[in-house]
Amino acid sequence: MSEPTKIFLPEKDAPTHWYNLNADLGALGVDVPPPLHPGTGQPVGPEDLAPLFPMELIKQEVGGERYVEIPEEVRQVYRLWRPTPLYRAHRWEKALGTPAKIFYKYEGVSPSGSHKPNTSVPQAYYNAQEGTKRITTETGAGQWGSALSFACQMFDIACKVYMVKVSFQQKPYRRALMETWGASVVPSPSDQTAAGRAILAKQPESTGSLGIAISEAVEEAAQRDDTKYALGSVLNHVLMHQTVIGQEVIRQLEMAGADWPDVLVGCTGGGSNFAGFIYPFLAEDVDGRHAKPRIVAVEPAASPSLTRGRYAYDFGDTGQMTPLMKMHTLGHDFIPAPIHAGGLRYHGMSPQVSALVEAGLVEAKSTTQMPMFDACMGFVRSEGILPAPEAGHAVWGALQEALACKESGEARTVVFNLCGHGHFDLSAYDAYLGGQLEDYEYPEAAIAESLAALPHVG
Ligand SMILES: Cc1ncc(COP(=O)(O)O)c(C=O)c1O
Repeated sequence: MSEPTKIFLPEKDAPTHWYNLNADLGALGVDVPPPLHPGTGQPVGPEDLAPLFPMELIKQEVGGERYVEIPEEVRQVYRLWRPTPLYRAHRWEKALGTPAKIFYKYEGVSPSGSHKPNTSVPQAYYNAQEGTKRITTETGAGQWGSALSFACQMFDIACKVYMVKVSFQQKPYRRALMETWGASVVPSPSDQTAAGRAILAKQPESTGSLGIAISEAVEEAAQRDDTKYALGSVLNHVLMHQTVIGQEVIRQLEMAGADWPDVLVGCTGGGSNFAGFIYPFLAEDVDGRHAKPRIVAVEPAASPSLTRGRYAYDFGDTGQMTPLMKMHTLGHDFIPAPIHAGGLRYHGMSPQVSALVEAGLVEAKSTTQMPMFDACMGFVRSEGILPAPEAGHAVWGALQEALACKESGEARTVVFNLCGHGHFDLSAYDAYLGGQLEDYEYPEAAIAESLAALPHVG
């Protein structure tokens, strides 16, 4: 076989800048309405965010500079695993009998096993620069909590993680990993915050949600001078840090002599791995170098913000402490079923990705977890790599494209982001193999109920 299977970008050619989509929104015809202060209804200013985030990250959140230089200290840590490999899925293509040329970017080689350290490292770095001693955060599947624990360890900052209770119970080894990197981990809802206590008073058996865990982490950071908060997705600066992914992919496709992709596929929880993967392709379009490929976002039918949520202003958390963001939302009270893709169980979607869907630049699809695991089984049995259930949604999306090519006989180039490995998700694979996995689609009535509690804006 003459065409390569793994395409490695040398360290010396790693991206030196992040790409900031804010700079190109006008050129793309995309409008991202600003976050609003829940009290005044006015756009939030830097001073509103200052108790939670270091100033450099606030500047990045609202800044319009097209390329932001990656500090050398961050690049040094990135070099522990970046650039990540791009694979050509020769064996999966053959097993499927598809003429499609399938490539996947593999972010599972990072220390914590996903794309999340691409932003946890710069977030910890800028906090350290500005004297932060402690960072609080939430985690769903444990991927983000692990990534932040690792990054805090790199820059000597204490880390406290509120972990959604159902994941805390399902994934004891994720907790152990976070503790190995020096973090303390608390199941959420907890009795350590007013937000947690309020939920427990109403629902003592609550299995938690990302929305609740965010409230707990934000509350603690807002109350302590030595503590800031870090978010693993949704916000503009987080998405920007992930753009090392797509920049590397473009260079690796060139190295492989591949055609410009026909379609890009990624999974969406809050939108960060997806954005980091696709944004540099939008920049190519803006610069007139290459036309935008079709772009597909895949989410779980159990947490269908893009496909069934409303595009409206909503809180980022259940306790109504965050600014209001215009996004696709299922309502901040939404409690998703405990499906295995814990990292995709969020009620909202990043405002930028939501706006790209509204503008028709991105298509959104959903799948339940059985077909997603079916797709992963085919993938793992030919490619060997075990996808995280979140990343499995991208595998499912790529499979649909490969099967469409098989049907039509077209040899399209399909590229997807395999954003994490599933080594901590083997109980999910075990349930699948044991025939114990259940499909779940979020019921229409429950969506209507949580949407009824959306705040009134404007
Ligand atoms: C492996 C993995 N993929 C995807 C996600 C979803 O987040 P995002 O949409 O921000 O990439 C998570 C979140 O925890 C994750 O752990």
